[in-house]
Amino acid sequence: MAGHPDAEAILRWYAAVRRDLPWRRTSDPYRILVSEVMLQQTQVARVVPYYEAWLERFPSAGALAVAPAAEVLRMWSGLGYNRRALALQAACGVVARDGWPQTVEGLMALPGVGPYTAAAVASFAFGVQAAAVDTNVRRVIERLDRRARRPPELARRADALVPAGRAADWNQALMELGATVCTARAPACEACPAASCRSQGRPQLAPTARRGAADRVRFEETDRYVRGRVVAALVAGAALPDGFAPERLERALAGLERDGLVVREAGAVRLP
Ligand code: ADE
Repeated sequence: MAGHPDAEAILRWYAAVRRDLPWRRTSDPYRILVSEVMLQQTQVARVVPYYEAWLERFPSAGALAVAPAAEVLRMWSGLGYNRRALALQAACGVVARDGWPQTVEGLMALPGVGPYTAAAVASFAFGVQAAAVDTNVRRVIERLDRRARRPPELARRADALVPAGRAADWNQALMELGATVCTARAPACEACPAASCRSQGRPQLAPTARRGAADRVRFEETDRYVRGRVVAALVAGAALPDGFAPERLERALAGLERDGLVVREAGAVRLP
């Protein structure tokens, strides 16, 4: 299928309802990469203030590349998945040295940049006509094109749906549709511009279990939780958290050291 019968309607809908998000006002690949890495794990509303503070402190790939890692972790603190901050810095180190790759494949060679992020940066910054398919967009595409079910068929069909020359708006439009109308649960089909879609919100994804008390206990039992607590303590200039069994703390510290998130020397632990 070349394009989609509702492509024009979807683009028109997006032009009318699009949220004015700061990363939608730029074609600077650095700003776009920062936003996409932050948005991988965190909701739009929570990302906006982090994004703005980050750009104030690290206005370019070059500025981020030479910043102390401890400062990078401090500015990231609260977003979670601290390793992504260091991978983003490493990617900017490559960019500062070699310049921006301008293809999906070239961008994917950067540390921490997967197919989704590469396609997002390529289409938003460089006008590459590639579909950027994250979890939300995948759901929308599966509903719009019921033959687009699995990779690699899904990726092929996702690219084939892109209206000629409109990849950037199309990718943003599908993200917006997935975030606001074509949601996983209780999609608002009556508000959807895709008149030919017959999915009626199917496949209806099984409701994910609420994060209740039981889940929180389970998360607090993970190594990731201990690692997060350790980095948060170091960022705050505080002592290592107490209350963890020594072997648990040691396992977390060893993992953080292996990933370059902490340095241990002379019995002390510090940010890199
Ligand atoms: N989620 C991931 N990327 C996004 C973007 N560019 N705009 C809004 N939400 C997103």
